[in-house]
Amino acid sequence: MRLDKYLSQSGEYSRSEAGKLIRSGAVRVNGEPVRKPDTQIGPDAQVVLAGEVIGDNSLQYYLLHKPAGVLTAARDSRAQTVMDLVPENLRKRKVQPVGRLDKDTTGLLLLTNDGELAHFLLSPNRHVWKQYRATVTGQLTCADAEAFANGLPLSDFVTKPAKLTIVSSTPEESVGLVEVREGKFHQVKRMFAATGHEVTALHRHRFGPLTLPDDLPVGQCRPLTEDEIQALRQSVQTRKTDGTETGLSEGKG
Ligand code: URA
Repeated sequence: MRLDKYLSQSGEYSRSEAGKLIRSGAVRVNGEPVRKPDTQIGPDAQVVLAGEVIGDNSLQYYLLHKPAGVLTAARDSRAQTVMDLVPENLRKRKVQPVGRLDKDTTGLLLLTNDGELAHFLLSPNRHVWKQYRATVTGQLTCADAEAFANGLPLSDFVTKPAKLTIVSSTPEESVGLVEVREGKFHQVKRMFAATGHEVTALHRHRFGPLTLPDDLPVGQCRPLTEDEIQALRQSVQTRKTDGTETGLSEGKG
């Protein structure tokens, strides 16, 4: 394919803009500067413009330590969003948050452009557990843990059984570890509200097989390791009654 056509098919440049960029010497093919727009390139050629690989459709997986005060949204005209915290090249590759955390919730947020995996991870039938540390008003008791385990009737649905482990408990304030496999709007806060507690701080430190690394500073992201990607993919495979697995298509990741 012609180099100018390849660049314009990346979706960001018209054919004439691509031609100008190439003639200006800003484009390298397999490490060599190329100035002729009609240069033929092969299917495995690496095309780099201003230091960035063009036409790279590779799957990207990132883990962000979300700070409080940041929206889980692609764009917002007034507030800072999680997409403002990831490198520019990931935005161009259509990386998006998997699920959402409230503006005041901190912790682990997965970002990827692997739409199929994201879809499976968000499916309530796949049972991907998320673990939160919640600071709440009032005294948490065994009765609260039982209510979480039995499923709580909220205004629009009954929650699936969840685990509540009490970390500390005083009449004024308590801390609990909550594990849920659903991800409905304000779910954890609503579950505590249903048992008479207000959440004053919420932090997610586990998402399926992923744990927020202790050394990842607030507001920073890092790529997942190969092992973490494989563990995530494994976590959404489900076993059918005949013992075979159903889930993600073959050959990705
Ligand atoms: N549940 C909530 O209530 N808020 C979050 O941000 C995540 C889970």
